[in-house]
Amino acid sequence: LAGVLNRGPAAALTSPSQAASIPLLIAFGSQSGNAESLAKRLAREASGRGFAARAAGLDSLQPADLIKDKNVLLITSTWGEGDMPDNAVSFWDSINQNGSSPKFDGVQYSVLALGDKNYGDTFCLAGRKLDARLAELGARRIADRVDCDVEFDTLAKQWSSSAFTALSGSTAAPVADTAVEEETGWSKKNPFPAKLIDNTPLNTRGSSKDTRHIALSLTGSGLSYEVGDALGVFVQNCPDVVDTILAAHKLDPQAEVPLPDGGTAALRAALIAHYEIRQLYGKPAAQTGMAPAAFVADLRKLQPRLYSIASSIKAHADEVQLCVGAVRYSTDGVHHKGVASTFLADRLPLGETTGIYFHAANHFRLPADSTKPVIMVGPGTGIAPFRAFLEEREATKAPGKNWLFFGDQKRASDFLYQDQVIGWVQSGHLTRLDTAFSRDQEEKIYVQTRMLQAANELWQWLEEGAHFYVCGDAKRMAKDVDDALHTIIQTAGGKSAEEASAYVNQMKKEKRYARDVY
Ligand code: 2AM
Repeated sequence: LAGVLNRGPAAALTSPSQAASIPLLIAFGSQSGNAESLAKRLAREASGRGFAARAAGLDSLQPADLIKDKNVLLITSTWGEGDMPDNAVSFWDSINQNGSSPKFDGVQYSVLALGDKNYGDTFCLAGRKLDARLAELGARRIADRVDCDVEFDTLAKQWSSSAFTALSGSTAAPVADTAVEEETGWSKKNPFPAKLIDNTPLNTRGSSKDTRHIALSLTGSGLSYEVGDALGVFVQNCPDVVDTILAAHKLDPQAEVPLPDGGTAALRAALIAHYEIRQLYGKPAAQTGMAPAAFVADLRKLQPRLYSIASSIKAHADEVQLCVGAVRYSTDGVHHKGVASTFLADRLPLGETTGIYFHAANHFRLPADSTKPVIMVGPGTGIAPFRAFLEEREATKAPGKNWLFFGDQKRASDFLYQDQVIGWVQSGHLTRLDTAFSRDQEEKIYVQTRMLQAANELWQWLEEGAHFYVCGDAKRMAKDVDDALHTIIQTAGGKSAEEASAYVNQMKKEKRYARDVY
């Protein structure tokens, strides 16, 4: 996925002397890698403008670094319920010490917050908190914070442009287009049409779930990926849902409407392929039909969806595979369908194509040292990246030990990739497997239950330098697993609660604690 920088007309945007030797630290708090790649891109751009710029993860920074560099641009995402990204946690703690917080007088800064408006109140919360705290500690805000929704390119460009201008004390030329393209020419802006070549149910009769093994062909694309990466999939809304909405609002399906990126299309086609319609579910219909153009003016552009890749390309040449849980449920008589999951499970016929691109997840990687043990906690579809990790480590004959925690509702119907996983136990590739089937007995048994039962051995592995990975539900599972990890470090490791937190923070710093949660 080596990116080629598309610098546009000129890299020397301001005369370098204007900003010459102005130090600039572009700090990032990143969970999925967006803030990180943006920070790195802006650092290159700032260097082109003559700043002495560098990008650095918040996990590698102390408050003293900000005081030394003086000019700080901070880019951070938010995850879970308004939480700091993992690599920002220790920095956040260090500026919230009772009585001994640093003083940032003399530091000039601005914050760019990345987020997702679907999260409501916690939208961009990590960025908002950092912005407020830096000001409280005496730093001077040189450009207003900007809060971005999922499509952040344009706002990020405006933000960096005003921040660079404020820092160099001059009017800067417009920022060059820095869209990153893959060497193959395929990218998010120019997605590869990948053919669906497999769509197999992974649950059997009696299951309350519908999880699919999905395979897409990369033949002819020249594309490749690394395990841990995510796949961006361009999807379409369900035509039945669109028809229901059109009828409820008494709208003409053929009325011509503007599209988010310019051009026009018939309203029905536009709602299927170009706009998010989730906000229209269950809404009372208008008494009279609204003008179609006004109707779409309120809607957001339909976003491609990211899925953790479930395969290694070393095990499946020219293919990318996903483990997709089809989301279907009813609330108050309204039937909901996950847009992307039901598009892949129900509406994309075998042999047809859909647009894809790769999203590099540099925070979610196997240890560079293949002798290091890995512990993987992935209930439900959270198994996806770990199937990929195990395939990769098998293909590369990595000598490190592998431990998988998998859980789901019932062993008989919900043990995803059972044959392959059991095969790995039998061959010895999987050193240890712990399963937690929550509904096979009276009491709930979850992956964290199994972790706690194996506390001593898990602690042993951590002390051997194991990397610890979690994938799956962010709201409850990832939090409970995190609690269990702290408990294990206290009980098996003989540490206090504070020492256990420090131990976990150190793991995050060494990139030995990585989470891919949603
Ligand atoms: P449940 O639905 O029976 O409560 C994958 O979806 C598995 O994750 C299911 O077995 C589900 O159990 C379980 N699960 C639900 N909440 C969880 C939590 N807080 N921690 C771990 N696993 C959980």
